[in-house]
Amino acid sequence: MERYLIVAIIFAIIQITFCCDVVKLTFPSGFSLGTASASYQVEGAWNVSDKGENVWDYFTHNRPELITDGRNGDVACNSYYKYKEDVQLIKSLGFDFYRFSISWSRVLPTGFTNVISEDGLQYYKNLTAELVENGIEPVVTIYHWDHPQVIEDMGGWTNELIVDWFVDYAEVIFEALGDSVKRWITINEPDSFCVDGYEGVRKAPGKLLTGVGTYLCGHNVLKAHAKTYRLYDEKFRDTQNGEVGIVLPLISFLPYNSSYLDAAETAFQFSCGWMAHPIYFGDYPEIMKTRVALVSEYQGYPRSRLPEFSDEWIAIINGTNDYFGVNHYTSQLVYDDPDEEDGIYNSDKGLIFTVDPTWAATASDWFYVNPSGFGTLLRKIRDEYNNPPVWVTENGFSDSGILDDYDRISYYYEYLREMLIAIKRDGCNVQGYAVWSILDNFEWHAGYTERFGITYVEFDDTDTNRTAKLSQAWWAKVLSKRKLQAVPTSTTTRYLLPWQK
Ligand SMILES: *[C@@H]1O[C@H](CO)[C@@H](O)[C@H](O)[C@H]1NC(C)=O
Ligand SMILES: *[C@@H]1O[C@H](CO)[C@@H](O)[C@H](O)[C@H]1NC(C)=O
Ligand SMILES: *[C@@H]1O[C@H](CO)[C@@H](O)[C@H](O)[C@H]1NC(C)=O
Ligand SMILES: *[C@@H]1O[C@H](CO)[C@@H](O)[C@H](O)[C@H]1NC(C)=O
Ligand SMILES: *[C@@H]1O[C@H](CO)[C@@H](O)[C@H](O)[C@H]1NC(C)=O
Repeated sequence: MERYLIVAIIFAIIQITFCCDVVKLTFPSGFSLGTASASYQVEGAWNVSDKGENVWDYFTHNRPELITDGRNGDVACNSYYKYKEDVQLIKSLGFDFYRFSISWSRVLPTGFTNVISEDGLQYYKNLTAELVENGIEPVVTIYHWDHPQVIEDMGGWTNELIVDWFVDYAEVIFEALGDSVKRWITINEPDSFCVDGYEGVRKAPGKLLTGVGTYLCGHNVLKAHAKTYRLYDEKFRDTQNGEVGIVLPLISFLPYNSSYLDAAETAFQFSCGWMAHPIYFGDYPEIMKTRVALVSEYQGYPRSRLPEFSDEWIAIINGTNDYFGVNHYTSQLVYDDPDEEDGIYNSDKGLIFTVDPTWAATASDWFYVNPSGFGTLLRKIRDEYNNPPVWVTENGFSDSGILDDYDRISYYYEYLREMLIAIKRDGCNVQGYAVWSILDNFEWHAGYTERFGITYVEFDDTDTNRTAKLSQAWWAKVLSKRKLQAVPTSTTTRYLLPWQK
């Protein structure tokens, strides 16, 4: 009897220790916390010096009716001029790193390396140096959707020649910034621009190349990413010793009910697997190859609309991620398209996507809050890709611009809690996390109507002044304690910013 009691007590102690380590919600030692932005969304200065026109300049200027408020990134947050102020803000809040992106056409006005803009390159050297001097690690996205318009005029991501043009551009960036930058992102969210930009008008270039454009874009993205990774291996890794990866936008796909586990798996492979399967295993997921071939045939195409990789390309692409970059915001429920039972194929995936009515809405039509989906996604990545090191390169919440942004704080609390449980309880190898975003910024097709910042930006005034939201102070406390903090419920429990104490 006594023996059982002792065992029970020991067991209880283990449980309490374990539970409270999870419940304490501290970040593991060495965990990196940062914040993120992208060039077109924050820089402004769209036509200074010799900067070339990019696809987002062209898209917003020529098709303003496709942007919710008809506006553009000509000025945005003015970060081209205010980068020192941005860096001071990031430093004062206590972030470890800042993820920003390079504007291709600012550095290469003609799109090619025949002309390198001195001012353009100097801006990124200045920003990088400013970060390093202030003890913040620069994390650089080489491409965040704003390629030169001249390259788009030649087919953009549907022209395979972009692969070498991209690598040429990346080489200029590695050379210029690589002494200070140790974490590189080649390409941000291929799904977003390949789907919304080459088979839709929600993103630049807004071409309706239905059925073909998206896969062609994705194919060339994979080649450009992989060749850039190989270039880093060949010319820079020895001396610069950094890490190179791609960033994927990952929705957590959940079965509508337990009859649809396969549907959720198919959704995952068509989204995450589309890019990650070639990068981790050499080729597109089997289900994707089978389904696109089937539906292509049904539609009367002579061959699958999904391009194939040669053995040579498989060898180049396979194994080109030093870490797994994840942008995560939301979940979707998935079930099989019932029309397929009648032999009607409405889509390559053959799926219907919906959301749970209990998930809270945000300011973005694609975005509903479901914290547990984040944990599910992280465990899926762990299982699917042999527990790679993961960097969450974006996570955040949109509203219409509220200073007392309790809902944003609550979102961060709930999502980070899921992430910490996935790390501590489930052994997911997550090493870094970035808040999207440090500032409200130009939210693509939504213009300035959806705000993701922990800082409010006055876009209606040329001063583009910044104002702290409540979430800024919450983050400052989290960063100083390296531990999640309770969600304040009213202004009486408001957290103070470091300089307000
Ligand atoms: C740059 O664009 C602004 C509009 O955003 C315009 O007023 C200005 O004249 C342009 N400057 C140059 C040098 O083209
Ligand atoms: C870079 O910094 C130098 C020195 O502070 C400054 O003169 C220059 O204008 C900056 N250039 C850019 C493009 O920000
Ligand atoms: C799942 O939902 C479908 C459609 O509503 C239904 O036909 C099926 O019986 C459900 N399965 C389970 C296990 O609840
Ligand atoms: C991809 O690389 C891994 C690890 O080197 C190797 O085991 C695998 O066979 C490769 N896959 C293909 C399709 O070449
Ligand atoms: C923006 O901030 C600056 C510096 O604090 C101030 O001088 C200016 O009046 C502000 N502009 C607006 C429109 O509030």
